[in-house]
Amino acid sequence: EKGTYPHYMLKEIDEQPLVMRKIIQKYQDKNGGLSIDSEIVEAITAADRVYIIAAGTSYHAGLVGKQMIEKLAGIPVEVHISSEFGYNMPILSEKPLFVFISQSGETADSRAVLVQVKEMGYPALTITNVPGSTLSREADYTLLLHAGPEIAVASTKAYTAQLAVLAIVAEVSAKSRGREIGFDLVQELGIVANAMEALCDSKEIMEHIAREFLTVTRNAFFIGRAVDYYVCLEGALKLKEISYIQAEGFAGGELKHGTIALIEEGTPVIALATQENVNLSIRGNVKEVAARGANPCIISMKGLETDEDTFVLPVVHEQLTPLISVIPLQLLAYYAALHRDCDVDKPRNLAKSVTVE
Ligand code: M6R
Repeated sequence: EKGTYPHYMLKEIDEQPLVMRKIIQKYQDKNGGLSIDSEIVEAITAADRVYIIAAGTSYHAGLVGKQMIEKLAGIPVEVHISSEFGYNMPILSEKPLFVFISQSGETADSRAVLVQVKEMGYPALTITNVPGSTLSREADYTLLLHAGPEIAVASTKAYTAQLAVLAIVAEVSAKSRGREIGFDLVQELGIVANAMEALCDSKEIMEHIAREFLTVTRNAFFIGRAVDYYVCLEGALKLKEISYIQAEGFAGGELKHGTIALIEEGTPVIALATQENVNLSIRGNVKEVAARGANPCIISMKGLETDEDTFVLPVVHEQLTPLISVIPLQLLAYYAALHRDCDVDKPRNLAKSVTVE
């Protein structure tokens, strides 16, 4: 039930801090550390490469997960769009582990790959929100998102739950390989939950920004570098699916290789700047688009901000920034859709779970 909320999407955005705390609680062991089923840890440890398979928002979560697992655990990871995997199958490593990320656990494109890799005899883990779902039943192992039912077609809390569970997978895998990750993930996820709460309280500002940047525009661009780029892909998907604004996420450095030709007077360009090592270069990209007439909206992180920024995010660990930088983008999409009189929870042409290939 959506209770006093006008839409499920807004309710689900607001549930994100709670979901974080639930995930911490579900994955915390009696010593206060994080743990997952030992069989799953063994499967990850035995693998020489992880292949993440997913679609849409879950694919975007996979891109962030790749970074977490590679950086923290040192295991090579590839991320593939499920509908493409059949034709563009990479040369597989000797001991692959397939990880299916799916909110619903029912996505037919992902299931087709699962069937294929099971036939080839490879182990598979499903990360899903729905216990007993097809992908969960057919894989060898399951990790649950514990996000509660997600009703709105636009995925929000499942994305951040996927990121949290992937961070836990990365941390546990690092530990099992004797690697020191250098921070306390339980504590850092707690900080994320608090930061999410603060962001959920910033709805008025987000409504205002959406009104200013997105009410009349035909298109919008999201730019970021490093992990911010992946969050930009997600921000653009959210905006296009519910507001029908043509939106694309780009890597900041790619703009000059083509996309910058699309910038016109007033084109909204939403830039994420949460990473210290690319802060200067993404700001350079903002200057380039602004010089061509774009209307830049910079979302930065405290400590990296400048006077020109539109919104400043609270600080979280640099490996976990996507968990909070996505929230303003979810809210911008929500308010843009609302201002444009769109059916927020049930956008045209879309179904919650895509059960046909
Ligand atoms: O249930 P799944 O996570 O497998 O669904 C994958 C996509 O269909 C889904 O994420 C879709 O892109 C969402 N509508 C995005 O908000």
